[in-house]
Amino acid sequence: MAINNSISLTSPVMATYTRFPVTVIKGKGSYVWDEQGTQYLDFTSGIATCNLGHVPDVVKEALEEQLQNLWHCSNLYNIPNQQQLAALLTANSCGDQVFFCNSGAEANEAAIKLARRYANKVKGNEVPEIVTFQQSFHGRTLATLSATGQEKIQQGFAPLVSGFSYLPFNDEEALELLYTIEPVAVLLELVQGEGGVIPANQEWVSKLAEICKEREILLMVDEIQTGIGRTGTLFAYEQYGIEPDVISIAKGLGSGFPIGAIIAKEEAAKGFDPGSHGSTFGGNPLATAAGLATIKHFVNTNILNQSNEISSYLEKKLLCLKEKYSFIEEIRGLGLLKGIVVETNALEIVQKAIANQLLILTAGPNVVRILPPLTVSKEEINEFIKALEKTFQSIEKGE
Ligand SMILES: Cc1ncc(COP(=O)(O)O)c(C=O)c1O
Repeated sequence: MAINNSISLTSPVMATYTRFPVTVIKGKGSYVWDEQGTQYLDFTSGIATCNLGHVPDVVKEALEEQLQNLWHCSNLYNIPNQQQLAALLTANSCGDQVFFCNSGAEANEAAIKLARRYANKVKGNEVPEIVTFQQSFHGRTLATLSATGQEKIQQGFAPLVSGFSYLPFNDEEALELLYTIEPVAVLLELVQGEGGVIPANQEWVSKLAEICKEREILLMVDEIQTGIGRTGTLFAYEQYGIEPDVISIAKGLGSGFPIGAIIAKEEAAKGFDPGSHGSTFGGNPLATAAGLATIKHFVNTNILNQSNEISSYLEKKLLCLKEKYSFIEEIRGLGLLKGIVVETNALEIVQKAIANQLLILTAGPNVVRILPPLTVSKEEINEFIKALEKTFQSIEKGE
């Protein structure tokens, strides 16, 4: 067949996303630039991924060094970066062992497989059930979209993977159902990100953890959006006083380089043996160089204290906006994962903000999601508030 060099007028990239009219070609810190050189304040952080800002020097240097030596090596051999990153993650969490993969969905897929195999192998349960929650989001693979408690994500993909029950989120009474369902595991987000930036209630989480402990149900937290400092601690679970059996992470772990992982307690980790799960690229030398540099930065600097100060500052500023604009119903979230609940159309705000050189996100139809990098400065927060107000004013004027 002859090679076709002609360029198609319609995009050859599948239309699985409705893309905003911005072509981003460069990023540094809290900013990105488009093809024309226009600068945008990026308060999306690649959807909670570039937590250290764009192209952070510490991660860039680690990647540059690794690029000189070895890009890929099969998991049939020892990979030093992987060993060190696993050691750092377990030393800074309640987990004991790490499995590496390449994305958030793959991390949850691993968590689901681990729970099922644990049920099978350790508990002798051949039809294990996993409880998840309504409005949750756990990924786009068949098992993770089946675990997701949102019909719109599942639509058109029947038959779904069976074995999931969906309970209402933050509902104490519904937790009683755990005694009848008797699941092998519960999988939850401590702040539902895609579902509308909804933090779990402390009391509800404590009760859930108590039942899990009493009934020997694995408590699995999806920290793909909340993890790696996003909510003010390395993992959000630390703020809830619980010790999950499995933690899934991705996004911020590689500061923009694709990597995912689950961290499991020793008991839960018994579910996997050699050959029961795997990934060609999972934890490869480059990905784990990025992950190692990222986590070292969290451990060795006071970035979390700084981001907590900034998040209080941001919250105050957002609450001032709530006083000023009657269409703002609520400011919610944890750390630098913030939601502005509006009476109006959140997408319109996000679209109009682009004209003010500001990138922000939605989380459902009426929540504007704000995800600045954890390295954001007060000046940049001020700049953000100015651009957001300008956007609100243009919407109020019907422009
Ligand atoms: C809580 C949560 N879980 C899972 C995922 C899926 O991650 P990925 O897109 O890397 O597969 C996401 C992505 O937004 C998420 O927010």
